[in-house]
Amino acid sequence: MTATGGPEVLVAQDVPAPRPQPGEVLVRNEAIPVLYPETLVRSGAFPIPIPLPLIFGTQAVGVITEVGAGVDAALIGQRVAVASNGFGTFAELVSVPAESTVRIPDGLPSADAAAVMMSGSVAIPLLETAKLTGTETVLIEAAATGVGGYLTQLAKEYGAARVIATAGGPEKADRAREFGADEVIDHLDPNWPERLREILGGATIDVVFDSIGGESARTVLDLMTPLRGRMLSYGLLSGGFAQVSAMDLVMRGLTLIGCSGADWLAGVAQARGAALERAAAGSLTPLVDRVLPLDQAAHAHQLIEDRAVKGTIILQP
Ligand SMILES: NC(=O)c1ccc[n+]([C@@H]2O[C@H](COP(=O)([O-])OP(=O)(O)OC[C@H]3O[C@@H](n4cnc5c(N)ncnc54)[C@H](OP(=O)(O)O)[C@@H]3O)[C@@H](O)[C@H]2O)c1
Repeated sequence: MTATGGPEVLVAQDVPAPRPQPGEVLVRNEAIPVLYPETLVRSGAFPIPIPLPLIFGTQAVGVITEVGAGVDAALIGQRVAVASNGFGTFAELVSVPAESTVRIPDGLPSADAAAVMMSGSVAIPLLETAKLTGTETVLIEAAATGVGGYLTQLAKEYGAARVIATAGGPEKADRAREFGADEVIDHLDPNWPERLREILGGATIDVVFDSIGGESARTVLDLMTPLRGRMLSYGLLSGGFAQVSAMDLVMRGLTLIGCSGADWLAGVAQARGAALERAAAGSLTPLVDRVLPLDQAAHAHQLIEDRAVKGTIILQP
C-alpha cells in the first residue's frame, strides 16, 4: 500500500523476505482473504495510524516453514490461520507471533479456511451475545455475503424462530433464502425499513444484527419489541455506525449493544477455531467468491467497492 486512496494504491512489489523473530513463526501463504473492513483502511475512511509504504493485509492461511527462537520446531509443516494487527499478509511470506496462529483442521481447503476465518468468527460471538430465546424474530442485514451470510446460516441453531434478512437485489436475496432466511427485503431500496414494516404486519423484531448502520438503524427502532429488543451494532456499511441516541433507546426501552473495538475483537479471535471446525465439519458453508492471483489485490478491492462479490475474494500467491 503506497498511500491512502483508491484501489490503485495497492501495487505488487518485490521486498526482502521477513525473518521470524523470537517467538514468531514464518508462514508461506496459500490463501489470503480480502476483507471489507480492509477497504476502509486503504481508502482512509477508517483512519488508523499506519506507516507507509505498508505490506497490506491482516489475515492469511498458510504453512509454517520456519520458527524463531523459543518456538517449538515441531510446528514446521503445520497449516495455520494467521491474523496480524501489524499487517503484512498480502505477501508470499509473513512472520507472526506463534501464539496468534490457529491450526487449520485437516480436510478444510485453505481457500475455504481463509473465507471463514474472519466473517465466520464474528458471527459466532454476535449470536452468543444476542442470547436468543427460541421464540424470537431477528433481522440480519446484508445477509448474502460476509458476516451476514454466516449469521443467517447459524441463526436458527442459536435460537431464532423467524429470520428476516436484507440483501442487495434478487440474486443476493435468493442466496440469503438459501442460507436460511424466511423473508428477504431488498436494501437497495432506500425505503427498505418501510418494506420491513409491511412484512411484519404489526409483529415486532426482537434482535437486529446491524451492519448497515447510519440513518436506517433509527427507523428500525420503531419496529422493535419494546422493553426486550436488542440491536447489535457491528458494521458501518452505510458509512457510519447506527445513528441512534440515548433518547431514541430509552423512550422505547431498547438496548444497543456495541460489538466492535479491541476487547470485542479479542472474543472474535477466540471464536476462530470454532468457526474453522464448523467449516471442516460442514455446519458452516464457506462463502468464497473467487480466487485471484496475489498481484490482483487492487482489482479485488475494486470488485468489493462495486458490490460485485458474492462472498470473500481469496488471493493466492
Ligand atoms: N465488528 C466486527 O467485529 C466486524 C468484523 C468484520 C466486519 N465488520 C463490519 O461488518 C460489515 C460487513 O462486513 P463483511 O466483511 O461481512 O462484508 P461483506 O458482507 O463481505 O461485504 C459487504 C456487503 O455489504 C453490502 N453492502 C455494501 N454497501 C452497502 C450499503 N451501503 N448498504 C447496505 N449494504 C451494503 C453488499 O451486499 P449487497 O450487494 O447485498 O448490498 C456487500 O456484499 C462492515 O461494515 C464491516 O466493517 C465488523
